[in-house]
Amino acid sequence: MSEKNNKPIHGQWSSRWVFILAATGSAVGLGNIWKFPYIAGEYGGGAFVLIYLVCVAAIGIPIMMAEVMLGRRGRRSPINTMRALAKSEGRHGIWSWIGWMGVAAGFFILSYYSVIAGWALAYVFRTASGALQVTDSVTVKNIFGELVSDPEKLLAWHTVFMVMTMIVVARGVKHGLEKAVRLLMPALLILLLVLDGYALNSGHFGEAVDFLFTPDFSKLTGGAVLTAMGHAFFTLSLGMGAIMMYGSYLPEDASIATTSITISIADTGVALLAGLAIFPIVFAFPELEAGAGPGLIFQTLPLAFAQMPGGQFFGTLFFVLIVVAAWTSSISLVEPAVAWLVENHGMSRIMAAVWVGLAIWTLGIATIMSFSSWAFEFNFLGTVKQNGIFDLLDILTANIMLPLGGMLIAIFAGWMMKVKHSKDELAIGNETGYQIWLFLIKFVAPVLVFIVILNLFGVIG
Ligand code: PHE
Repeated sequence: MSEKNNKPIHGQWSSRWVFILAATGSAVGLGNIWKFPYIAGEYGGGAFVLIYLVCVAAIGIPIMMAEVMLGRRGRRSPINTMRALAKSEGRHGIWSWIGWMGVAAGFFILSYYSVIAGWALAYVFRTASGALQVTDSVTVKNIFGELVSDPEKLLAWHTVFMVMTMIVVARGVKHGLEKAVRLLMPALLILLLVLDGYALNSGHFGEAVDFLFTPDFSKLTGGAVLTAMGHAFFTLSLGMGAIMMYGSYLPEDASIATTSITISIADTGVALLAGLAIFPIVFAFPELEAGAGPGLIFQTLPLAFAQMPGGQFFGTLFFVLIVVAAWTSSISLVEPAVAWLVENHGMSRIMAAVWVGLAIWTLGIATIMSFSSWAFEFNFLGTVKQNGIFDLLDILTANIMLPLGGMLIAIFAGWMMKVKHSKDELAIGNETGYQIWLFLIKFVAPVLVFIVILNLFGVIG
């Protein structure tokens, strides 16, 4: 039987558009609005941003194409897709471990992702009530400090967010997701543009542009390079099977190359717009620092909203949209695990969602405590990290598991699969285009990831 004629057992997107929306929903999330600005600030801006952009283009886009291609060919959850494809290519079943590692990465990521989404939920209510209508940066910082040092509040919001995620997952990814993304993603973009317009007139826009786009390579540590590469995977949802899973619902006639490039450009654009909105605020207040860490957006954006006309309304809406962006990403973090439970254990989607949700919810407690009683500092390749287990989980997943998963996916697609099969499935239609992809996926992506990871262990450099 040819894999190509498989029909996905969990259903199919109604069109290529829905796939683009869903995959963009997965890619655009806290990674763009919360994480990108704070790590760009921590690692000194320009040079870090440049490396991140190079990684998106040279590693991210080819691997996204590979994931979508494998998913569409396998038509199952990543574990079973990899097992089936390894078999049909005459390779060892061990390749299904890519799927297992992805499931683990999804659990770890969502355990802290949900806690941060909980902060955003809390900020929806604080902005709406007017509690954040303060123009003094020290007060705004203290309000944030109070929230994260209160485990009971964090637990409550984390619980709300996990329940929201699991309800959508239980109903099946396609119901509701399509509508949410179609309406709310453009709204998010418009609000970001409003914020950028405000930042443009703040008098500090030039400094922000300079900070983000003038590379200063003397600031580049090993940790910065690894984090920039890891973030390219994180922000595009690559290396753990999320995009492979969504690819498995993709109709046969959609162009994988065009869709992957569109999604990557949209995702990168949102991150840069967020950076350009946040850094002018940072530079306008001497008490704020670019390297403030995970609290950065929560300590800066309220100041802008407190000052702009209609800020209370726009601010509330903005935090709502951050929550929605996080929501559409978190769904994709667990879909591979849930689909696998349904396929292999005959569980109903509802039961699968409940068990997966409970496990991740429990793990989330470690992140909650990382901002108060369990906090500890450690040095990560030259950068001091303050939030113990949260930072370790983030480094383990974004900087190690996702790049490793991505590298294995690249090796499978480039070396293990017959050229005829990948060419057929990608259907690029233009031989040069296909050869470029093949070169990137065989050589560039795996070698770059390998070098950067070796660097982590101090083997070189
Ligand atoms: N891409 C998402 C973000 O930037 C996070 C994510 C990572 C989602 C991996 C799915 C898989 O917020």
